[in-house]
Amino acid sequence: MSRESDRVVIFDTTLRDGEQAPGASMNLEEKLRIAEALEELGVDVIEAGFPIASGGDFEAVQEIARRAKEAIICGLARCGRADIQRAAEALAPARRKRIHTFLATSDLHMKYKLQMSREEVHDRLIDTVTFARQFTDDVEWSSEDGSRSDIDFLCRCVESAIKAGATTINIPDTVGYAVPEQLGALFKTIRERVPNSDRAVFSAHCHNDLGLAVANSLAAVQNGARQVECTINGLGERAGNAALEEIVMALRTRHDAMPYRTGIKTEHITPVSKLVSAITGFVVQPNKAIVGANAFAHESGIHQDGMLKNAQTYEIMTPESVGLHKSTLVMGKHSGRHAFRAKLKELGYELGDNAVNDAFRRFKDLADKKKDVYDEDIVALVDDTVVRANDRVKFISLQVVCGSRGPQTADLELEVDGALKRVTANGDGPVDATFRSIKELVPHSARLQLYQVSAVTEGTDAQAEVTVRLEESGKTVNGQGADTDTLVASARAYVNALNKLLVKREKNVPAALKGLSATAG
Ligand code: KIV
Ligand code: ZN
Repeated sequence: MSRESDRVVIFDTTLRDGEQAPGASMNLEEKLRIAEALEELGVDVIEAGFPIASGGDFEAVQEIARRAKEAIICGLARCGRADIQRAAEALAPARRKRIHTFLATSDLHMKYKLQMSREEVHDRLIDTVTFARQFTDDVEWSSEDGSRSDIDFLCRCVESAIKAGATTINIPDTVGYAVPEQLGALFKTIRERVPNSDRAVFSAHCHNDLGLAVANSLAAVQNGARQVECTINGLGERAGNAALEEIVMALRTRHDAMPYRTGIKTEHITPVSKLVSAITGFVVQPNKAIVGANAFAHESGIHQDGMLKNAQTYEIMTPESVGLHKSTLVMGKHSGRHAFRAKLKELGYELGDNAVNDAFRRFKDLADKKKDVYDEDIVALVDDTVVRANDRVKFISLQVVCGSRGPQTADLELEVDGALKRVTANGDGPVDATFRSIKELVPHSARLQLYQVSAVTEGTDAQAEVTVRLEESGKTVNGQGADTDTLVASARAYVNALNKLLVKREKNVPAALKGLSATAG
């Protein structure tokens, strides 16, 4: 029988630390979709952003706070009153809210980054944790670079943070330097040495620079941590954060060795993983644990034979337990609007009439071109329709001449702010010609950083899903496009990225992040 003390709180930071991965920035609508999916997944805490970092972050935290049903919504703040005040404002509409404030405690960070003495850091954390408690009873304090901090000083800071009102104490392995045995011992020591440690929940926040983030998080849990901070697909800065799906499935599958439980509905893992991957453009490597395309594939004859006799021979968890189902043939060109609407509902989409009509039109076009239409096709098509709802630049048509006898030419038609525009451009290959034609119709100086194509389903008539990443003046955006024609999908993806860039240009320049720590790790 499980006891309350076995329960591990899942703190998801995909929208905050995950979004700090270069190129992973998301717009408001995308963040709202991910937050909704995270709630369905059953995460306990959603770290929705860093409100003082930008107007966009503030708006996202506020809107997620407004819409959340069960999850605790958390906003990050440096240990400074202005940050905390801003986080509190953004979180105000939340039913359950948490302020997460952090300050570095390692000598290296205090000396070179903060230029603060130990005493100053200690005083500052007491002041800011006390201040944060004015806005909520749920305050988390993080000792940034905790795993490389002097143990005596760290214990002193933890004790004072709890005394000042912190209810969760997070000890991050900010630079992914720890090894499991050492990190486990660190949690054990702190909990034993800090006299009031029983008044707070201890939390692990591990980065993956040595590929040890999940192992370190589990070691922390085995030594008393009852919260883990993690991201979907392990998204995050540098090598990323601990992957939520790996921690959760390790605890579930090896409950015999690690008798702890989470509130995650594991059958939602695959859809959330796909959503995060599609929105950020970060493709999941095929051999990635739990959510990689090959995670449940058995290629060798011996394995296949064993599987047929008894799946447990080579399968330690079922694909169904993480929400992986065989592609189902859903509909064909004779399917009607009613059946299409029902399918959308089954796939979790609640769309307005206009969006349903647009998606249905595209579904009919697709069914004309493609023999079998699968759930994945519908998801790609609807996602593609939804992300375009408010676009200033709209794709209309594309005709490309390509092949070995050049020149490759693209004849493109776009609608820009309501006006139809058309151009023909040559290029070094059909993709180059297509992108050049977009540039001629909508002049811009953005650089193409990433161009990626993947197939939505199997077969030569599969839809291509294209991700394009553009960079302009330090801002990066990802665009997605799907179509049975790879070049049309490419044009749609580029136009989608361009629209996001136009929105970014219009938004206020972010509030400068000076002093304390410029960014969070
Ligand atoms: O890695 C880190 O130290 C962080 C803190 C802000 C918790 O992300
Ligand atoms: Zn971090």
